[in-house]
Amino acid sequence: TSSRTWSSGLTFILAAVGAAVGLGNIWKFPYVAGVSGGGAFVLIYLVCVVAVAIPILVAELLIGRCGKGSPPVAMRRVAESSGRSSGWSIVGYMGMIVGYLIATYYSVIAGWTLIYIGKAANGFDGASAAEVAGQFDELLADPTTMTIWHTVFMLLALFIVGRGLRGGIERVVKMLMPALFVMMLVMIGYSAVAGDFGAGLSFLFSFDFSKLSGATVLNAIGQAFFSISVAMGLMMVYGAYVPKDVSLTRSAMIIALADTLIALLAGLMIFPIVFANGLDPADGPGLIFKTLPTAFVTMPGGTVFGALFFLLLAFAAVTSIIAIIEPIVAYAEDRWHMSRKLGCAVFGTIGWAIGVLSVLSFNLWSDVAPLGMFDVFAGKTFFDLIDYFTANIMMP
Ligand code: ALA
Repeated sequence: TSSRTWSSGLTFILAAVGAAVGLGNIWKFPYVAGVSGGGAFVLIYLVCVVAVAIPILVAELLIGRCGKGSPPVAMRRVAESSGRSSGWSIVGYMGMIVGYLIATYYSVIAGWTLIYIGKAANGFDGASAAEVAGQFDELLADPTTMTIWHTVFMLLALFIVGRGLRGGIERVVKMLMPALFVMMLVMIGYSAVAGDFGAGLSFLFSFDFSKLSGATVLNAIGQAFFSISVAMGLMMVYGAYVPKDVSLTRSAMIIALADTLIALLAGLMIFPIVFANGLDPADGPGLIFKTLPTAFVTMPGGTVFGALFFLLLAFAAVTSIIAIIEPIVAYAEDRWHMSRKLGCAVFGTIGWAIGVLSVLSFNLWSDVAPLGMFDVFAGKTFFDLIDYFTANIMMP
């Protein structure tokens, strides 16, 4: 039915680029590049995109197109029609479950970006550069605020997905993707004027091979999967909705190129500010929430551009989470004949509750290691475990 087809090839590309471009590009790519030594990581990352992520992306889109359905259904149909075991549907289940688990904590982190739009617009309540990083630790210690904004973000995502492909997802990506791109260009302009653009550029593009290690390569592969959004089931579903006359190989190239370009642009937006203010590029996951605000409270125009930065991050997160939720909702429709709205309500509520466990991992349960009886999982919180199982085991 038309409710299960993109209205054009262009809206499909916008939606798929929206799915790919997210927290992974703007929050994670810069900090992983930062802790992995900059240019050397960037080069390996590019190799992983071309050699690993693009072929998988083409495969997923194609399986979606041929199998026409949610990931387990599409995998089973394609396997059976090729005379193979229907057990291949396990791959579909795995992708769908990975995506679902990622969505539960993605919403928590996206909630931080919503909080930071307000904080930045308020000039971080007049905090000094030395104090402002502390506001992130305060946030992490506050399960109530985190739960509220996780709830707000999850409801927003479910509302959009609940309205369907054309009425929800397409309308949102058509508005937000062009806005995101323009906002990024504005931010890069700001970074170039107010930051140390040369230092940012040289950090991202000068390859210091002494910084290469096995861990860099693993980080790059994981980041490529996450950022392009492969092995999460969603590209199979988005592929199933593509009109017949659209080339999937060409689409895959455009999606991967756009995603990579935006990750690099995010680096060019962030590192000039980091270097101009003497901040540490290897600060880790807190890079944009702790480090950048230190710059925003001292730089001219920091209030406006700080708020703009977190707004564009929130836009990027919205267009990703709606894609990450879509496979399980499509499955609920296919498998249990649930209406789209009921599927959103059921899986949204369960996903929201799992997300609350991630919220608690940062504060009340920060010492609880659910699988601590096994040495490999010692000291890993619930959130760490979800991240570990999805990124390091299930996705590969
Ligand atoms: N691909 C999405 C991102 O990069 C999940 O955030």
